[in-house]
Amino acid sequence: MRVIVEKNGQEVSRRAAKFFDELVRNKPNCVLGLATGSTPLGVYQEMIRMHREENLDFSLVTTFNLDEYVGLEPTHPQSYRYFMQTNLFDHINVDPWKTHVPDGMVADFESACRAYEHHIVDAGGIDLQLLGIGSDGHIAFNEPGSSLGSRTRLKTLASETVRDNARFFQNEEEVPRLAVTVGVGTILEARRCILLAIGEAKADAIRATVEGPVTAQITASALQLHREVIVIVDEGAASKLARREYYDEVEKSMLLMEAKKRLPGATRR
Ligand code: PGA
Repeated sequence: MRVIVEKNGQEVSRRAAKFFDELVRNKPNCVLGLATGSTPLGVYQEMIRMHREENLDFSLVTTFNLDEYVGLEPTHPQSYRYFMQTNLFDHINVDPWKTHVPDGMVADFESACRAYEHHIVDAGGIDLQLLGIGSDGHIAFNEPGSSLGSRTRLKTLASETVRDNARFFQNEEEVPRLAVTVGVGTILEARRCILLAIGEAKADAIRATVEGPVTAQITASALQLHREVIVIVDEGAASKLARREYYDEVEKSMLLMEAKKRLPGATRR
C-alpha cells in the first residue's frame, strides 16, 4: 500500500483528483469506480473544476458506483443515484447511459446483482476505484463479517453505519437498513484502488486497514491483498498510524522517481 498523508481534507481531494485526471487523459474510455459519502465530495468538486477549466473530457468514460440504499427511488434526495447526479454527473460531460448505480428498487435483487457484475466485466473492468471508509472499517457497504470474496448482493447495515448516516436523514429511523453493494471481491478486481479518509474519526479504521491483520471484521483491510492501492489521508485520519515516518520516506522517494520520469529524454523501462 502506498500511504500518502496530506495536511487537510482539501489537499486529500486534490491529490486524489490528480490520479483521476491522469487516467482520464491517458485513457479517455476508462472505467471509473465511484463512491458516495462526505469524503469523495471534494474529489468530485475538483473533477468538475478540471472539466470546466482544464477541459477534462468525460465523454467516453464509464462509471460504476459501489452501492445504493434499498427502497429509495433514484430521485430520493438521499439515494446515491441522486447524490451522484447532483454532486458530479450533472456538472460534467459524462454520457448518462454510461453511468451505473445499483438500483435499490428492483423486484429481483439476485439477478440485478448478477447483472451489475456482468456489466462491470463487459465494460472492461474498473480501472480506478475510489473508496471511502466507514468508522467500522467497511468499504462500500461491506460491513464487518462480510466475506472477503463477496460479490454484489444485499447487505444489512451495521448499527454503527446507520448511526453515522443518520445525519443525512430526519432521524435514525428513516435510514434504510438494507443496501445493494458490490462485494469485497468485486472491489479487489479493480486495477487500482484509492482509499480516502479525512478526520480523526477515521483514525482507528485507517490504522486497522493499513497496519492491522487482514480480517473480515475490517473489510478495508482486504486491500492489503490488492496489488495497487493508494491510501490518501489527512493528518487526523493518519494520527494513529505507527509507521507514519516510513510512509513519508517512501512518498519522498516516489515523488523523486516520478519527477525523474518527467524529465525530457527519460525513458520508461
Ligand atoms: P463518509 O462515509 O465519507 O460519509 O464518512 C464513508 C463510508 O461510509 O464509506
